[in-house]
Amino acid sequence: MTLFVIGKPIKHSLSPLIHNYWINKYHLGLEYKKMEVEEDLLPSLIENVREGKITGLNITLPYKKDIISYIDEISHTAKGVGAINTVFFKRNKVYGENTDGVGFTRALEKEAKFNFSNKSIYVIGAGGASYGIIYELIKKKVQKIYVTNRTKQKATELLSFFKSRNKDINFEFIDWEGLAPGSDVDLIINTTSFGMKENECLKIDTNNLKDKLIFVDIIYSPKETELLKLFKKEGFFCMNGLDMLIEQAAVSFELWFNISLNNKDIEEVKKICEASY
Ligand code: ATR
Repeated sequence: MTLFVIGKPIKHSLSPLIHNYWINKYHLGLEYKKMEVEEDLLPSLIENVREGKITGLNITLPYKKDIISYIDEISHTAKGVGAINTVFFKRNKVYGENTDGVGFTRALEKEAKFNFSNKSIYVIGAGGASYGIIYELIKKKVQKIYVTNRTKQKATELLSFFKSRNKDINFEFIDWEGLAPGSDVDLIINTTSFGMKENECLKIDTNNLKDKLIFVDIIYSPKETELLKLFKKEGFFCMNGLDMLIEQAAVSFELWFNISLNNKDIEEVKKICEASY
């Protein structure tokens, strides 16, 4: 039996490396593969999950939203985010869950000992990844969320989506031109894909930031985006997206196999990933 990560493109996915390591470690006798698929294949893949021919799926770009229409039941979180990344079969139903946001918050709590409660968070980007992360930030009771995005309309849509459901959190739209986060900001997150290509770097004024600010780029390849390099050079605590990737994978793994992975499992796989690219 097999599990797949499906998307397009999928060539560079580290998910097979991560899951096959744990699958072998726990002697599960399965294989996790990547599959580049066209959209019209999505219904039959879900049927394969229903029939037990596929044990589980991870969904990545660009199908995290589209796949929902083929799933029997999606979790409360997946509804709140509007996207799923994990599919599994349970009690005669195909379920969809989103583990991206919780992967992000777990990574920050573990690696940076970050406590989200009452913090001010500055989110760059308004795509799928941003929705997943903001959903979890709200659950963690942050105080304020700033959002900026190249396309203003997408940021406005995201803000009205979350504002209408969360009246007690302070949201603010920030214009894309002249980004200059203030001294109240505790955490800056780049959720965009800008920075994956060489020499791509956002312009951000870092002069007003507090010393204890944390910068996270959810990109993990390259290991250090130009933006991350900039924050690092200025002495801020920085993280790339690898911890988040591994933590979201661990949550998916638990949903499929009911095995709760420990810190050693996480650390071992992190070393293997880091050495692989
Ligand atoms: P994901 O699901 O990974 O978040 P997405 O929904 O396509 O992917 O969103 C990509 C994000 O990266 C968006 O915030 C996008 O900004 P736009 O809404 O303006 O498209 C951002 N992004 C992608 N390329 C960018 C670039 N060259 N400059 C700035 N932002 C970029």
